[in-house]
Amino acid sequence: MASLSRLSLYVTVYLFLCLLANLTLVVMFLGGHTTHQHHTRPAPTPAWTPASGHSLGCDELPAIANLTLIGSGWTKAVYRGWYGGSWVAVKTVHTAGHDMSECRGEEASVCYRRCANKLRQEARWLTKLSHANVIKVFGECVPEVEYSAGPPRSGVAAVVVELGQPVRIVEVLQMGYEARLKLAVDVGRILQLLAHSPLGPVLMKDFRREQFVLVDGSLKLSDVDDVVVGEPACSTAQDCVIHDTTKEHVLTTVACDGGLCHGHNSLLNSIYAGQHFMRLLLPYGGPAALEAASLHLVEQQSLGRLDSEHLHTAIEALALNYSMGGYLTQAEKQEIQNFVVLPGSTVEGEDFPCLRSDGAQCVQSVSSPAEAASLCSQLPACSAFVLLQHWTWTGRQTAVFKKGTGKVREERRHTLYVRRGQG
Ligand SMILES: Nc1ncnc2c1ncn2[C@@H]1O[C@H](COP(=O)(O)OP(=O)(O)OP(=O)(O)O)[C@@H](O)[C@H]1O
Ligand SMILES: *[C@@H]1O[C@H](CO)[C@@H](O)[C@H](O)[C@H]1NC(C)=O
Ligand SMILES: *[C@@H]1O[C@H](CO)[C@@H](O)[C@H](O)[C@H]1NC(C)=O
Repeated sequence: MASLSRLSLYVTVYLFLCLLANLTLVVMFLGGHTTHQHHTRPAPTPAWTPASGHSLGCDELPAIANLTLIGSGWTKAVYRGWYGGSWVAVKTVHTAGHDMSECRGEEASVCYRRCANKLRQEARWLTKLSHANVIKVFGECVPEVEYSAGPPRSGVAAVVVELGQPVRIVEVLQMGYEARLKLAVDVGRILQLLAHSPLGPVLMKDFRREQFVLVDGSLKLSDVDDVVVGEPACSTAQDCVIHDTTKEHVLTTVACDGGLCHGHNSLLNSIYAGQHFMRLLLPYGGPAALEAASLHLVEQQSLGRLDSEHLHTAIEALALNYSMGGYLTQAEKQEIQNFVVLPGSTVEGEDFPCLRSDGAQCVQSVSSPAEAASLCSQLPACSAFVLLQHWTWTGRQTAVFKKGTGKVREERRHTLYVRRGQG
């Protein structure tokens, strides 16, 4: 036991030193470049913005400041850096990563070049996939000079991309239903893109949360170095069988047509996405009337009965249903008749906590005044609600529920609804 823990200590220290070396490498290279270039050219103009469309190259790289390591995998080490007034992510070769440390019997420079080419390939693919749910590429620098271990006599390979945040389960589970629904819609759009991409049908061999990042509440594909472009080849339908995750049971089969398994990538991506995302994102916390439909969708997806296209359609329909209150019954829609509307008025205070929101206020988005009325009628404490001039991404309006109407005052941007026979 003692030797085991000592071993793990050594490994930890070793890995730490490797990471440190990696950072030093990048900083030294970037720093070295800056001083070297000082005489020949003025500092790059800080006028660059992510939207400027100007592609960054080896010349601009040294001007990326405040580099901090934010993530690493088998191939890449990813840094956050500050450039021209924005934060960006800089992907470099992870010199202590699996791909480099497994480089036995080969020159380090050969392995480094292979990793650098992977980076470049990834940049090319990300650029070709260009989509609102794919990380933007801002530039790349893959110097032709020979790499050697130790302090760099040559440059480091780097790709500059849009900065995101890792997808953390705990944070996802703490999100409200509407924010999670956004991510589910994003998953659907990413699946649709991969199934019909300019590269052909793309399969994510390794469909994990680590392949994605969050940017302003949207899910974006960020790691595409482990994808397969094109459907697998086949000679009979037997070659187009799709197994479950344990690889023991046959889930489904796609057609072998013209030597290719048609729709294989679309279906397999959808199954993986169901297991890694939808299960967490969809089923709970929304209107009770949508729960059964959501659970059904996730189940169908996991069983391989919904390819990317169908999943995409189903998710968009679910989001539309939610945004329009398609799940409300006639009786629920009638509740509004028991309310008196006072445009340009609001209620001061009179808040109460409720299950639907954190804190002392009862705040929720609604698809219509009728839905707010129906919700208010179901809460014994509720005697009024105020609609705010605020809409969520689905187009639903924010409502604040009130337990009384003690202090009604004028407020141009609010609309007050008071329950009859109350307040
Ligand atoms: N654009 C980005 N913004 C913020 N963090 C990112 C970005 N891209 C990647 N990361 C973080 O860096 C980590 C490693 O990046 P990436 O997955 O691209 O490396 P990798 O070597 O290809 O990993 P692996 O091959 O092991 O999946 C990711 O898990 C993610 O947390
Ligand atoms: C970058 O780092 C420097 C020095 O550590 C610090 O003064 C500066 O505020 C940082 N810039 C940003 C944008 O965080
Ligand atoms: C919305 O979802 C509910 C529950 O699944 C369903 O009964 C209803 O028909 C859907 N409405 C629309 C407009 O899609």
